[in-house]
Amino acid sequence: MKKNISIIIPTLDEKENINKLFYEIKKNLDNQNIIWEVIFVDDSEDNQTVNEINKLQNIENNICLIKRFENRGLSSALIQGALSSNAEYVIFIDGDLQHPPSKIKNLYDEIRNKNLDIVSASRFLETNEFLHQKRYKASLFVNYLLKKLFKINYSDVLTGYFIVRNQFLKKNYKKLSNIGFKLLLDIILTTKNTIKYSEIPFKFQKRYSGESKLNSKVLIDFIALIIDKLIGKIIPARYFIYSFIGSLGVIFQLGVFYILQFFLNFIPSLLFSIILTIFFNFILNNEITYSDLKKRGKLFYMGLIKYYFFCSFGAVFNFIIAKMLYDNLLNIYFAVLLGAFVGSVWNYSMNTSYNWKK
Ligand code: GDD
Ligand code: MN
Repeated sequence: MKKNISIIIPTLDEKENINKLFYEIKKNLDNQNIIWEVIFVDDSEDNQTVNEINKLQNIENNICLIKRFENRGLSSALIQGALSSNAEYVIFIDGDLQHPPSKIKNLYDEIRNKNLDIVSASRFLETNEFLHQKRYKASLFVNYLLKKLFKINYSDVLTGYFIVRNQFLKKNYKKLSNIGFKLLLDIILTTKNTIKYSEIPFKFQKRYSGESKLNSKVLIDFIALIIDKLIGKIIPARYFIYSFIGSLGVIFQLGVFYILQFFLNFIPSLLFSIILTIFFNFILNNEITYSDLKKRGKLFYMGLIKYYFFCSFGAVFNFIIAKMLYDNLLNIYFAVLLGAFVGSVWNYSMNTSYNWKK
């Protein structure tokens, strides 16, 4: 049967919220003359959330589950859920009850009555008693900056609670940056000249159970998304993240070198600083730059070995250049710095092509 709405719920360790959320949705949508289904997209490492969903599936008949293994990241989970839906509209809602299901009907009515592409639920259209005042202000400020930067007119482009016409999404999803947490922003900036949208107010709730997944990685992805939207057509966003990690590596290497040279001569200090920096960068790149292709378990060690292999060539360049400059120049830090830079450019291209490949 053709559904009116698919409700996409992304989950990352949300086992205690599954039941409550589903029955809240059901309570709000049953007897409304709406044919609906829920599609969970789970990226958790263990099976606890999946087990909860499976239990529900034994009782209810309108629940789908997409369990992912290799792909990760919120935006990509949402898109994957939406692509599996043949409903007329798709709604995205968080799996922790911070988005009240009572607004689903309002979103649906608004998008249909006005024949729009997107209706989002905004946190800033009515007074909101926020738990975290700091985050509220930060959100408001970032929204303001984005509005100015991209000349858009939404009150809340960071919200994750919105409804979209399925045909509209299917037409445009390939053009998305597909990075990080903020799918709505990605869609708006990709389609901003053609999109028909409006907003309705909602009150952001307290997380029901579990912990927020917001971390520094989400922040870096957010910056990468913005950069990608600004100049992504020329240089890929992943390159920027890689360079950022690379520059952390440079600082790390200089620090390690500084300490080591109290105990060792120039050459052994340089060598050890390079070896340690490669390890440091592997961990960060695996967590952040290539988090969508993150290596775990056995693959982690295989990747590390490969990384050392590719980087050993980079390290040889690093070493030769630093040594050459050291022999000709007086400033040893400048020598180390330039050596590290040349090495890192080499490493990026090799690892992107042969280590974390799709
Ligand atoms: N499948 C999947 N994969 N789900 C994820 C991932 C992931 O990598 N990361 C997070 N999630 C899920 C969480 O399980 C939760 O259901 C939802 O996405 C939102 O994650 P939270 O960690 O609860 O986000 P938040 O509370 O910090 O962010 C909220 O505020 C933003 C507005 O500033 C959310 O409402 C966002 O949607 C919203 O944009
Ligand atoms: Mn949340």
